[in-house]
Amino acid sequence: MAKRSLAGQAAILTGASGGIGEALAHALAAQGVRVALSARRVSRLEQVAADITSAGGEALTIAADVTDDAQVEALVQRVVETWGRIDIVIANAGIYVQTPSAELDLASLQQAMEINYFGAMRTALAVLPQMQQQGNGHLVFMASLGAKIPIPGDGPYVASKAALSGIAQVMRQDLAKEGISVTIIYPGRIDTPMLDHLRTSWISPKVSPEKLAQKIINGLERRQRRIIYPFTGYLYVLRELSPAVGDWLIRVLRLQGWPAS
Ligand SMILES: NC(=O)c1ccc[n+]([C@@H]2O[C@H](COP(=O)([O-])OP(=O)(O)OC[C@H]3O[C@@H](n4cnc5c(N)ncnc54)[C@H](OP(=O)(O)O)[C@@H]3O)[C@@H](O)[C@H]2O)c1
Repeated sequence: MAKRSLAGQAAILTGASGGIGEALAHALAAQGVRVALSARRVSRLEQVAADITSAGGEALTIAADVTDDAQVEALVQRVVETWGRIDIVIANAGIYVQTPSAELDLASLQQAMEINYFGAMRTALAVLPQMQQQGNGHLVFMASLGAKIPIPGDGPYVASKAALSGIAQVMRQDLAKEGISVTIIYPGRIDTPMLDHLRTSWISPKVSPEKLAQKIINGLERRQRRIIYPFTGYLYVLRELSPAVGDWLIRVLRLQGWPAS
């Protein structure tokens, strides 16, 4: 698809208080996007907004917990009141819930689903009527390479991101006729606080959130259906061709990594 400028667009970005969200907030603002930064830690959001403003960008901060209907509704309402429209929503807020399958319980599955799946869907569904009224918009979901290359111990996290990836692919087809695009992002290992506890395998080194943010900007400009980064993520194709070889590779390459200390 042809490249389109993002300048002047109004965006909501959840999980903007650190990690990938913070890097993406700066990258969007540098493209002239007006960004509504949302998360629970208000002081972190205000710091990110101040950095954006001092670099000449435009940002709003709106505290919201993505597990709370009323807070997410209020987030959307405030952006519409301020900018009159919502062009892009990036459902990025997420947590990493790891539990070995032998110790799986419903609580860890529910915790991951509540934020990574229902939190992202709550955000998208709150914005959808506005986009339908506009006749255009761009829904962006932060899945994970884990949805394509599930690794040992990551059951709750993988399940939540696979569910998100699944429904986003359906929404992409259903909503195209309404002028609404859907992009799904599948990051590999990214160097953020989420992975501080982990030392990763040589084949999947942590890459900087700024590099991922730049890839995402390029993808959003082209309304790409999916963004897979870093490139080692394409190992999933091999895994699709042969699950046995895929499982063996995950094991010998130790994609789950090691404890950091
Ligand atoms: N790092 C990786 O390797 C990697 C790989 C693939 C996908 N991802 C995905 O990328 C996204 C961002 O992750 P990250 O690496 O940047 O992690 P991070 O540094 O831990 O940031 C997570 C963000 O989510 C927000 N958040 C968590 N729970 C929330 C809630 N209930 N309501 C609202 N906001 C909430 C946090 O803000 P507050 O605590 O201030 O609320 C924070 O801004 C996640 O969806 C993650 O699954 C990360």
